[in-house]
Amino acid sequence: MAKGSEAQYTWPKYVWMNGSIVRWEEAKVHVFVHGLHYGTGVFEGIRGYYDGGYMRIFRLDDHFKRLFRSAKILHMDIPYTLEDLVKATIDLVKINQFKNDIYIRPIAFRGLGSFGLRAKNPVDVAIIALEFGKYLKPDGIKCTISSWRKPSPDSVPIYAKLTGMYVLYHLASIEAALHGYDEAILLDSEGYVAEGSGENIFIVKNETLITPPVYDDILEGITRNTVITLAKEELGLQVVERRIRREELYTCDEAFFTGTAAEVTPIIEIDGRVIGDGRIGRITRKIIDLYRQVVLGRIKKYENWITSIAIE
Ligand SMILES: Cc1ncc(COP(=O)(O)O)c(C=O)c1O
Repeated sequence: MAKGSEAQYTWPKYVWMNGSIVRWEEAKVHVFVHGLHYGTGVFEGIRGYYDGGYMRIFRLDDHFKRLFRSAKILHMDIPYTLEDLVKATIDLVKINQFKNDIYIRPIAFRGLGSFGLRAKNPVDVAIIALEFGKYLKPDGIKCTISSWRKPSPDSVPIYAKLTGMYVLYHLASIEAALHGYDEAILLDSEGYVAEGSGENIFIVKNETLITPPVYDDILEGITRNTVITLAKEELGLQVVERRIRREELYTCDEAFFTGTAAEVTPIIEIDGRVIGDGRIGRITRKIIDLYRQVVLGRIKKYENWITSIAIE
């Protein structure tokens, strides 16, 4: 089910919507909802890993915290608490009885009410979960610098995960695919490297990890934070958060993306320049392996990042 393929998703039996679990067929909205017209929604992407009778959900609370932060930026009051949404997610995963890895998508958007642009319509909330495999090719991908740029932080709030913002990533992603690449890399408003269409980016230079800082035009990724923590604490690597120039991408020793969907994906070519020796880099490989151990709850120190749900 890697990106770019036309693979069909298997829809789940149930969806959580505005406080109830409903059948997939019933999880509908009206054509007049504000979020549809103006992109006034916030969302999250969370992964669950199926592990012999348990679903291990990674950093569930942290994702919902970001959802509430995004909503606040949009003047949006989500009519549930973080605890309500955590419980709703657990109920939803249980009732769907998933037996494979899953992707969970909470979404909150302005619903029905006024049609005016400034309308603060009531907020609808849904949680969708579906079986989901690899998002990008795990053995390495080819990327291109997109002609679409990240906007400056004073044009849209990049820190928030807003539905409307994803038009940009949709365009960048389609453009990359049209030109035969697996994924796009977007530059920021000043021409420095920002991120992928759904991932943060890291390069490795002289055994040091380098990634754009969060004050730059990027989403503050939870996987990014996980990888920085693991690189420093478990691998003893130096991590530098600083701006990256485009040509540094072409000449780095290793490069990889991080993201909930993408996990840790090696980048092996950028705009026709082979990265390293064109295979998964040594440090990237270590991070991939460690990340896998952590998301499955195998490393005690990071167990508090996991919500385990028994699946009957
Ligand atoms: C634009 C963008 N950047 C980065 C990320 C990675 O964030 P996270 O690791 O929290 O999934 C995502 C995915 O959510 C994204 O859509």
